This record gives sequence, structure tokens and C-alpha cells, in this order.
Amino acid sequence: MATDASTALDTPMVPVAVVHDTGVDTIQLKLEAFNRYGSLKARTAVGLVDALEERGLVWPGIRIVESTSGNLGVALAGVAAERGYRFTAVVDPRTSPALLAGMIALGAELDMVTEDDGAGGYLISRLRRVRELTEGATDRVWTDQYGCPANPRAHELGTGPELARQAGGAMDAVFVAVSTGGTLAGIASYFREHHPECRVVGVDVPGSVAFGGPPGPRVLTGIGSSVRSQFLRPWMYDEHIEVEPGAALAACRRLAAQTGIEVGGSGGAVLAASLRYLQAHPEIRHPVCLCPDSGSSYRQTIFDDDWLTANGLGCALDPWPGGAPLFLRGEL
Ligand SMILES: Cc1ncc(COP(=O)(O)O)c(C=O)c1O
Repeated sequence: MATDASTALDTPMVPVAVVHDTGVDTIQLKLEAFNRYGSLKARTAVGLVDALEERGLVWPGIRIVESTSGNLGVALAGVAAERGYRFTAVVDPRTSPALLAGMIALGAELDMVTEDDGAGGYLISRLRRVRELTEGATDRVWTDQYGCPANPRAHELGTGPELARQAGGAMDAVFVAVSTGGTLAGIASYFREHHPECRVVGVDVPGSVAFGGPPGPRVLTGIGSSVRSQFLRPWMYDEHIEVEPGAALAACRRLAAQTGIEVGGSGGAVLAASLRYLQAHPEIRHPVCLCPDSGSSYRQTIFDDDWLTANGLGCALDPWPGGAPLFLRGEL
């Protein structure tokens, strides 16, 4: 029986009713934490390793190296172990302790950079380290989630069709968080061709240069980037929305408190972006939020009150004091 991550079942799509000041919407949350290895990046990891195999660049015992903010590291550690490769995750001090522990449990070696990149994060330092480890090496190979076309392809061939199938043709907007841009580019390529009526909205954080613009400090991990996406083109999205980290985390915490559904910070950002978009676009009736991972990976960071306060995000502890929106599991 096959046990590879590529044989994963569809992840669930769960309806949540949102009561705003102005009315009620039903948003479908696609919970990517139900992928093997706990996130959307399981799909990307399988695509990236398949691409190395197709090009004959890996063999038993070789070491795969990748820069990761957490989820891809866990997924690549798992896929590498399944297929007999070694794996080094180049990580940074902001990586969630739970995700670091997940990588180690799956046999990864961690290589921690400590110098921030002067562009709001550690990504440029991590990429420099990956190059040091792989350039000219015969026993190490880089999957390159930032430039390998297998990243968006995994979502064009997998996530996109799965979303459309589950929504039964009724989906009129999809909200997708952006870091490398691979998920958004892949989903957009699928929807532009097969369901061009569906709006595609990218979700980013201030200080990220994924869509261009100047860099700035960022506190959330997984969403946002210190380098411009190599995959995104303007035709792929109708608009992109920047969500302040406080609003993203308030959405995560309120959703968890009211429905028991725990999503990570980028899922919170996507949810907050969708609420903003729905208020401005009442014609959208069937929105879907792609939630990349689970809040359970961030108990020591975004779900920890002291961490929030220490990172200047105490505002997320008292979300929307006026009452609305109210999240209810199911449809109203
Ligand atoms: C936490 C998180 N946010 C956002 C994303 C979207 O990332 P990308 O743009 O690199 O596909 C991912 C990808 O899995 C993720 O794990």
C-alpha cells in the first residue's frame, strides 16, 4: 500500500458563518493542516522532490537542503525520510519551536542562521546559507521552493482542482496567503483557465516585498517575503490585500475561541482579508479561504499572550471589542 505524501486525501472544507455589523456571510475554510505533515507545504514538498527525481538529481543518501520558515521544512523532512534522502533545513530564530521539533522528529538536520537580512526577516541570510551549502557540492542539492516551477505546478494540478471540485462550481472568490507566491500562482493558473469567473485575491503583510514595494519589519512567519516572488504575474490575481499582523492574529484567536477551529497566522490573515473584501463586495456569496496550517503549530508564539505582548501585538488579545464579527461553525 502506498504511504507517500502524494497519496493524501482531500483536505476538508468547513463552512463558518460570519455575523458582521452589516449582515451574515458563509465562508468556506479549506483546512490545509489536514495534509500529511500538517500543512499546505506537503503538496509543495512532494512536487519539489518529484522534480529532483525526474531530473536525476537525487539518489539514496543524498542530502536535500532548503530554506524554510517552518512548514516546508517539516514536509520536506517527511518526504525525504519516506524516500531515503537526508535533509537539512536552513531556519532562523523566528521559526516556531513546534515546527523545529517536528523537523527534528522526522530526522532533519537544522542549520540556524542568526543574522537578519535587513529586509524585515531572515530570508536573504537563509538563501545565502543554502548557496554556501549547495554550490559546487556533489552530495547536497537544493529543492529551491523560490524558483522551481514544481512549486506552483503542485497547486495548479492539485490544490486548485481540489478546491473547485469541493466547492461544486459555486465558488466566486478564493483568498490565498503569499510567501514564495507558489500557492497563489498555481491556484490562479488553474482558476483563470477553468473558472475565470472566480476572483483570486492574494493576501500579504505590510513590509513584505512578495508583490514588490519596499521591505519593512515583519513578525508573522510563513506569510510575506524579503524577496519578490518569482512566480507571480499581475494577471494572476484580481487584487492583493495587506493585513496588519494584529488583525490577522485577532482573527485567528477569535475564530479559535468561537468555533474551536485553530488556524495559523497566515490563515488568520486570509480570514481577515476576506472579511474586509466581503464588506466591500457584497456580490460575493461563496468565498473560500485557504488556511495553510494549524494554530497548534504556534502555541508558543501567536497563541501565547506573553509572546503577543512582547512582540507589540497585545491589540490581538482584545479583538473587535465592539462584538462583531461573530464566527459560528456551519452555515446560517
Ligand atoms: C504558513 C503559511 N503561510 C503561507 C503559505 C503560502 O506560501 P507560498 O506563497 O510560499 O506558497 C504557506 C505555504 O504553505 C504557509 O505554510
